[in-house]
Amino acid sequence: MFTGKKNRIVVLLVALVTLGIAASQPPDGGHENLKVLPKNITHETLDSIMNTYNTALGVKCAFCHAPQKDNPQRMDYASDDKPEKEITRNMMRMTIDINKKYFKFKKDDPGVPPVTCVTCHHGEAFPEAK
Ligand code: HEC
Ligand code: HEC
Repeated sequence: MFTGKKNRIVVLLVALVTLGIAASQPPDGGHENLKVLPKNITHETLDSIMNTYNTALGVKCAFCHAPQKDNPQRMDYASDDKPEKEITRNMMRMTIDINKKYFKFKKDDPGVPPVTCVTCHHGEAFPEAK
């Protein structure tokens, strides 16, 4: 079956999210506080990954990100003030581990990793309540 370009991009991004690695992309810089994702990730790839989190959990960016102290209308994406951000880092590490350890999914494997955020969350921030 024909897979559209958009689908293939989504598949690639899901793999990047899950494995926490970037394809050979030029360093972009500008991201100050990345502990799981690669530090040289491009803005475009980072944005797409963040959008998959919004969709997987059914939330907006502000669910994990704190506002700027001097201008609460704007977000401070590098800040770790919201505990949801650190919880998410652990979720990312867990998802990477599950795929590597129990599904033997390697970073060069084609296709979508078996387990992603949406596998458990299904559009809910609190999947245990369902
Ligand atoms: C479910 C939680 C979650 C959601 C929702 C989320 N993010 Fe993030 N975001 C994170 C985490 C965790 C990191 C840090 C990743 C790391 O340490 O590698 C991050 C990092 C970032 C960074 C890099 C900041 C820096 O300089 O270090 C930006 C920019 C960002 N997010 C933007 C967004 C935008 C825009 C949205 C909405 C479209 C969004 N995020 C939604 C969890 C989230
Ligand atoms: C194996 C299943 C599973 C996977 C995969 C998973 N999660 Fe979770 N996640 C859960 C469960 C269950 C909870 C609720 C935990 C609790 O009640 O303490 C949770 C809680 C969370 C929370 C905290 C919500 C809150 O405020 O209490 C965030 C944020 C989150 N997950 C983000 C993510 C992101 C982002 C991913 C993908 C990188 C992900 N999760 C992958 C099962 C999963």
